[in-house]
Amino acid sequence: MNGDTYDIPARVREGSTSDIRSIDDWRRAYLDCQADPDGFWLDVTRDLVEWRAAPTVGLEGDYRHIKGGPFTWFGDGQLNVTETCLDQHLEERGDKTAILWEGDEPGDVRRLTYRDLHAEVCRAANALQAMGLHRGERVIIYMGMVPEAAVAMLACARLGAVHSVVFGGFSAEALRDRVRDCGAEFVITQDEGMRGGRTIPLKATTDEALEGEHGVKKVLVLKRTGGDVGWTEGRDVWWHEAVEGASPDCPAEVVAADHPLFILYTSGSTGRPKGLVHTCGGYLTYTAYTHRTVFDLREDDVYACVADVGWITGHSYIVYGPLANGATTFMFESTPTYPDAGRYWDMVQRHGFTIFYTAPTAIRALAAQGDDFVTKYDRSSLRVLGTVGEPINPDAWIWYHQVVGEGRCTIVDTWWQTETGGIAISPIAPATAPKPGSATRPMPGIEPVLMDPKTDRPIRGPGQGLLCIAQPWPGQARTVFGDHDRYVATYFSNFEGLYFTGDGCRRDSDGYYWITGRVDDVINVSGHRMGTAEFEAALLHDEAVGEAAVVGFPHDLKGQGVWAYVVLQAGERWSDDLEQRLHKVVRSVIGAHARVDVLQPVPGLPKTRSGKVMRRILRKVAEGHADQLGDTSTLADPAVVDAIVEGAKGRHG
Ligand code: PRX
Repeated sequence: MNGDTYDIPARVREGSTSDIRSIDDWRRAYLDCQADPDGFWLDVTRDLVEWRAAPTVGLEGDYRHIKGGPFTWFGDGQLNVTETCLDQHLEERGDKTAILWEGDEPGDVRRLTYRDLHAEVCRAANALQAMGLHRGERVIIYMGMVPEAAVAMLACARLGAVHSVVFGGFSAEALRDRVRDCGAEFVITQDEGMRGGRTIPLKATTDEALEGEHGVKKVLVLKRTGGDVGWTEGRDVWWHEAVEGASPDCPAEVVAADHPLFILYTSGSTGRPKGLVHTCGGYLTYTAYTHRTVFDLREDDVYACVADVGWITGHSYIVYGPLANGATTFMFESTPTYPDAGRYWDMVQRHGFTIFYTAPTAIRALAAQGDDFVTKYDRSSLRVLGTVGEPINPDAWIWYHQVVGEGRCTIVDTWWQTETGGIAISPIAPATAPKPGSATRPMPGIEPVLMDPKTDRPIRGPGQGLLCIAQPWPGQARTVFGDHDRYVATYFSNFEGLYFTGDGCRRDSDGYYWITGRVDDVINVSGHRMGTAEFEAALLHDEAVGEAAVVGFPHDLKGQGVWAYVVLQAGERWSDDLEQRLHKVVRSVIGAHARVDVLQPVPGLPKTRSGKVMRRILRKVAEGHADQLGDTSTLADPAVVDAIVEGAKGRHG
């Protein structure tokens, strides 16, 4: 059960600039950090971050006292993160490409040097300030993958304002919820997005979301396609009119280390998505450190993470980590299959990517298209290949390693979460011998604990349990915006004094960690994290639906699929029209990326006599294990289960 380790290819070891070049280095760093976390992180942050006032204290507070308020890192430090990401590089890297962008059409390329990016961020910050944006105020960014999305994030940070990026696939309703929850007075969007040859009506969706929302004072609109858009005089402002003429100098607003940098909404087991708050000093320190260490960053790397800035991966490993490190970071507007399944590797050949970071879903989808799409392009520049977002099955790992990387590259399977801010368990490219399917070992500062759900005690040595972390680290989210109690209840109420991740995990006898997936009601579809409660709430929008229960099930390509059991109101009848309507309602309530794979009409939900839905049974049926339902003696009405099992037949792809 331990799996084989793979050797680290010579190219990855040679000339490494990472402080951790061997497994002994890792062990030393890990133990140093464990013995003196404050000393370790103060050294790291003084080295990597430009502080106006360098901190002298590390961690204050802990998990046991989390109810009383968030812990802090670097409490007496003062900074503005854009001085680390931009200003510090001007002298030595002014002409180096900071952002390399490729648009939806192959070959539509833009390059912004560090000097260009600095000037553009200052212009945008000046424009936002002139529109009335102040330190601490929230700004929603609802854009596609254009360089201006990163510019907008950094412009907010320049002013000490707090951005909240909403992925461009979310619906008007989801956008409205987020605008309201964080009390944003500013929205930055674009006329339309471009993806896979199609336009995405970002401004029209923004208009719909803001109908009747009088709290939003200004909407800044980038012209991307030139398509027709509606216009609200006095509220809407064109980016090119406000930003282009603004001054390219903007003094950075100096803030305390624990000033919020951004809010990012993420799905949980219950209720609406939570706005996790990340702070300036700790987050920047952790993303800069993990980015250079895990990927073994070198000065001449062309680093490409093909995520979207709407998710945490885009925040940490397209924008903040790479720019703090002075790297050339790639932004990609399109999809892996446009115009065909060779797009990534065509870009590797044209841009010479040395590090490439994507999700297992994309790897599985591309592997299914055959090797020719890969092998016809020159991939000799590649050195490190990363994955993130979901467990990677060994077959996909091996294809990535052997076909994409020609056996020359090492693979870093990085486990982390919106909550962790940065990579928490992962191979370190030049140091850790990887095993296909394992996220391997913790980063310095991360102390994993596997809890036994039966005994509520930690498991020592090899075993499988619930993944918790014992101590705070600088990159950890500090709270849920406006609802600290919810933060405490979600993450710190399961096990006293531990952060609970929501994931299951196995540790083998080599001390390697194998993430087994979520153990709560979160599903991970194509690396997108969604709450089953959100799907259920969306289905209930249709008046024909009386009850709905949604569970995840294993899906060959997407990792997990979405299975919805629907009980109709009395007098309603199932039909193709109704089915289409339900798909549409999910799309309009959550967004285009949310799709139910199986909609199964059922006469009722399996409930205990006290009325609790037995989701375990629904999961087993969706997984195709109707023969392993376990103890059903507490069911109020066993006939319901028979009908569900019967109705599920033939629906398993
Ligand atoms: O279940 C884990 C899975 O993705 C969840 C976090 O999702 P999100 O906050 O959207 O962040 C995704 C990008 C960091 C985790 O709780 N996950 C993430 N990376 C891995 C993973 N599961 C297994 N292996 C990974 N490498």
